[in-house]
Amino acid sequence: MRLDKFLSVSATATRKETARAVRAGQITVNGITAKRADMALDPEKDAVCYCGNAVFYKPFRYVLLNKPDGYVSATEDGRDPTVLELLPPLYTDLGLFPCGRLDKHTLGLMLLTNNGELSHRLLSPRRHVSKRYAFRVKFPLTVEECERFREGLVLEDGYETKPADIELAEDKKSGVITLVEGKYHQIKRMMEALHNQITYLERISFGPLALSEDLPRGAWRELTEEEEKMLLITAE
Ligand code: URA
Repeated sequence: MRLDKFLSVSATATRKETARAVRAGQITVNGITAKRADMALDPEKDAVCYCGNAVFYKPFRYVLLNKPDGYVSATEDGRDPTVLELLPPLYTDLGLFPCGRLDKHTLGLMLLTNNGELSHRLLSPRRHVSKRYAFRVKFPLTVEECERFREGLVLEDGYETKPADIELAEDKKSGVITLVEGKYHQIKRMMEALHNQITYLERISFGPLALSEDLPRGAWRELTEEEEKMLLITAE
């Protein structure tokens, strides 16, 4: 792999920055100052230092993002801003894509990765990876309606949903829903089947990953090693 490619896939430097750092003698490979940005190296074996910091090769990246309102879960869209636009260019160059979708007006936890195989596994209906959503609806929900929700109900297109959990708050108009599948507009359509309407929806967890208060709306971070491990276990 070329040095400049290595530094870009490691989310360390753009090609331009690498060229500049090479000229300034700020990059070493196995302790020797790199002379060319296009020099070949073995990403698994060679030790690269960029401006004095060791750079580690990570073929796959995992970003946890707190999706704001109005952004679409896509890599490109002709009309609306995409969640990818919330990341700096160094990250968008890594080929990240959203693992699953949230509607344009749904907020909260989104996982972005360039690991297609893992994403596929996490989203596979066979794995039943759970997703929790904080919600609010227009009209109070009754005990019977919650029971129908828990048993699984039939959507307008005839699809019968898997049982989904619902914890209702005292106001009967908000709470937390847990799904183990992810059909298009699923929660909205489940509420519509109960002649109700979602007015607020925020994903608060996805499998082992949870949204925490220290990640403001629109902000992102890479997963910790521990989170990455748990995600891989979930996808086994
Ligand atoms: N269900 C929905 O209706 N919308 C989402 O974004 C996620 C789940």
